[in-house]
Formats: sequence, C-alpha cells, structure tokens
Amino acid sequence: MTKTSLLQAAYDPEAFRSMGYQLIDELADYLAKCQAGAEEIPANPWIKPEEARERWSAAVDQAGSVSSLQILVDTLKEGVHLHHPKYMGHQISPPIPITALAGLVSDWMNNGMGVYEMGVPGSTMEHLAVKKVSQYMGFSDAADGFITSGGTLANTTALLAARSIKAQQNVWTDGHDQPLALMVSEAAHYCVDRAAKIMGWGEKGIIKVPVNDRYQMKTDQLQRLYQEASDAGVQVIAVVGSACSTATGSFDDLRAIAKFCQQHDLWFHVDGAHGAALAFSGKYKDRVKGIELADSVAMDFHKMLLTPSITTALIFKDGKHSYQTFSQRADYLFEQADPEWFNFAKRTFECTKLMLGLKAFITLSQYGVKLWDEAVTAVVDLSQAFAQMIKDHPAFELAVEPECNIVCFRYQQEGISKKEQNQLNDRLRQSILEDGEFYIVKTWLGEELWLRTTLANPLSTTTELKGLLDKIEGFVPAHLPA
Ligand SMILES: Cc1ncc(COP(=O)(O)O)c(C=O)c1O
Repeated sequence: MTKTSLLQAAYDPEAFRSMGYQLIDELADYLAKCQAGAEEIPANPWIKPEEARERWSAAVDQAGSVSSLQILVDTLKEGVHLHHPKYMGHQISPPIPITALAGLVSDWMNNGMGVYEMGVPGSTMEHLAVKKVSQYMGFSDAADGFITSGGTLANTTALLAARSIKAQQNVWTDGHDQPLALMVSEAAHYCVDRAAKIMGWGEKGIIKVPVNDRYQMKTDQLQRLYQEASDAGVQVIAVVGSACSTATGSFDDLRAIAKFCQQHDLWFHVDGAHGAALAFSGKYKDRVKGIELADSVAMDFHKMLLTPSITTALIFKDGKHSYQTFSQRADYLFEQADPEWFNFAKRTFECTKLMLGLKAFITLSQYGVKLWDEAVTAVVDLSQAFAQMIKDHPAFELAVEPECNIVCFRYQQEGISKKEQNQLNDRLRQSILEDGEFYIVKTWLGEELWLRTTLANPLSTTTELKGLLDKIEGFVPAHLPA
C-alpha cells in the first residue's frame, strides 16, 4: 500500500493524542460549567437553519481551513446542551462521561456486532447487559434479547416476531391472505402505527383504543374492538401497551392488557422505550407492574438511563422467540438453524451493528443498577415537584398529573378564545426556543396546544423550574392578542 502523506496525517497517533487531550479538557470544562448552571452557556444556542448553513459551509468548502479541534469545540458550544440543568426538552438523557468514552472506543474499534467473531467483548457485554435488564423487568432466566438501534426499530422487530408466532399462515415464506392487526392506545408513539404500515397491514391493521382523561388505554374497550375486528375477518395478533406514552408520560394498565392477551392468545408487547426504566427505581417500579407478563419489552437506555443514543434493549420473555423474527440464512455470516445468543444478526435488523452493549455495560460495571435507580427516581420526583409548582401558580395550568418525568402545562390567559390560548402558548414556546436560556418543546393534546418538558437531567432542580415559569411569564405581554 502506498502511504500518502494525507493518509499518514489522518492516522497520525501523536496528532490524535494531542487533540484528544485538549478535547477531553474542553469536555470536562463544559461539564463543570453546565453543573454550575453557568449563565454563559445557554441550554440551546438556537440559530436559524439558513444562518447555520452559512456558518458551517466554509469548513467543508475548503478542507483544512478550520482545525478539527475547533470544529469539535464549536459543535459542542453551538448544539443543544443536554447536560445543562435548563435543558428540559425531548426525551434524551445527558450521558454520563464513561458512557461517552465507551462510545469513543466503540466508534474507534468499529467492531460489527452482527457476528460474535467480529467483536468478542462487545457481543458478550451486550448479552450480559440485556440479561441484567431482563431480571429487573421481572423475567426468568429464560428471557433473552439484544440491543438495537432505537425504540422504533425494537418495536418493529418485536411486532415482526409476534407476526411470525401468532399469524395462522407462515408469513415469512408464504405471505398472508388474512388481514392482520394489532391494538394499541391512541396515545401511543407513532412508531407502532408505522410498524403496522411497514408490515403492509394498512389502516385496518392498527386498531386504536381510546384513552381516559389520564391518557391511559381504556382497557375495558379492548373486548369490543377485538370483537368488531374478528367479525370483519381481521385476525388481531397483538396488543401493545405503552409504558409510558410519549406526549404525557402516561402508563397503561399492563396487568389488564396481559389478562386480555392471555384470554385471546395474543402477543403482548410493551413499548417501554421511555418508561420501562422505572423498573430500576425502588420508589416508582410499581408504575410498570405487569411488565413481567409481557411477551416482549422494548426499553431505551438513552431516554432515562444516562446513556448515549441510540441504545435500546429488546427483550423476549421466552428468549427462543427472538429467533423467530427473521427465518433466514446468510451464507457468508451464519446459518439460521441454531439459536446462538452470540451471533446477533440472526435476530436483529442490523447487519453491521454498532457496539451498543458496551455503553450500557460500562455503567453496570462501575455503578451497578443503583445509579439508574437514583437517576430515574430523581427525575420523577422532580416532575412531581414541578407539577405542584404549576398547580400552585395562578397563571399556569397542568395538563395531567405526571407519572414519569414528562410534564405538560400551559399559560392560561383569562378572556381569550381557545384558538388564541393555543396561539399564545405556541408563541411562548417559540420565544423560549429563540431565547435559548431554556429548552422545552410543545405538544397537541386533542385540540389544545401545551408546553411540554421532559426533565431528563437528574441534576436539574426546582430553581431552574421556577426560572422557567418566570421566563415564560416575562414573554406573555409581547404575545397577548391585540
Ligand atoms: C413511547 C415511545 N416509543 C418509541 C419511541 C421511539 O424511540 P426511538 O426514538 O429510540 O426510536 C419513543 C420516542 O420518543 C417513545 O417515546
């Protein structure tokens, strides 16, 4: 091989060492400043898309014009700051430093986790981390699974397994003539709808169960909807429970769903992408009671468990079921016949699969599940304190009592229409976004627009939350209808 000077420079160990040291210093300083709640770091240094394109284009138009260290430091400075206590937006954890270092090592090694021989430690750690999580879900040693690239993919994989196991025809080889369907609450994450559509089931294939005033599935409607589908010739194969829902963080009654599934021989999948992590909280684990009755559970490490995204466990109560999703051989990689925990590509969508297990395993190896207990408990406690602050405040309204770390609320102005109320809150959220000190999001609940916070950072406190309410109130006069 000809080693050109450019290749030599790109792989140069000493340049890497020097930049790496400087970068770690930058990251550590940033973390310390975030923890001090430093005013000079906004939670979200927002700039408009066109300005951002302009700002970054020179660095790519002329290679080498900006140093790599500068690019990394500026990226850190100008992106959303999850470690900041005023970050309260989407459902993503601020990773603890060791998990980010694990991410660096896994990117560096680039071991593909499809087959064991392409990365012995990573494959083994993934297996052990999944086994540990499955104990906390209340499963026996027969449970098994893997880590995959996000809740969306995990839910889709679980539902494909359900289809293989519950459909009356061999769908993998023969397709199916009979219409199939699953049931899920109307408050569930959109990826469940997407999974049904990907499987070609169309609108009929996703039966939306209404929710109560706490956005939990009305499980007493299951029988009626099931009967209607059966009468129309549709085979319902699964019910998906949300633990918890995305918009409000509401937990379905998993025990009631499990009972219904047992009565009708249906697959019971729990979308625990966000809230299955409560199983680690000594204080709040009862909120996921019934999860141990599921056939499969998806749980994101990156939403509540301080892990970089995207790292999702998909666990099957009977580990053997996880081999039934894809009935395929890949001559250059594996033969399908034997269930082998260590060759993940037999069971996952991914062929070249990232070394995701290391990021979960490293936390378990250093802190055990105790750290997850502390983190989950802290953010759920904080969301309850925030809900109380909102209820005590005459100008704000709480959408629903929070069950997880998601709180929806809004500013209430007397004497304006519903439409104007929605517009007011929409503009308030836009002002918060453009101001940058805090980062929060918004959601529609029925016809009403609400401000939405996910208290993702276990180091946030009620001081920041009080600051957020003050900040919102400060923007109100500018946005009141004329
Ligand atoms: C309940 C629920 N399920 C699934 C997902 C999708 O997970 P991911 O973003 O990891 O694909 C989300 C994301 O917000 C979610 O809240």
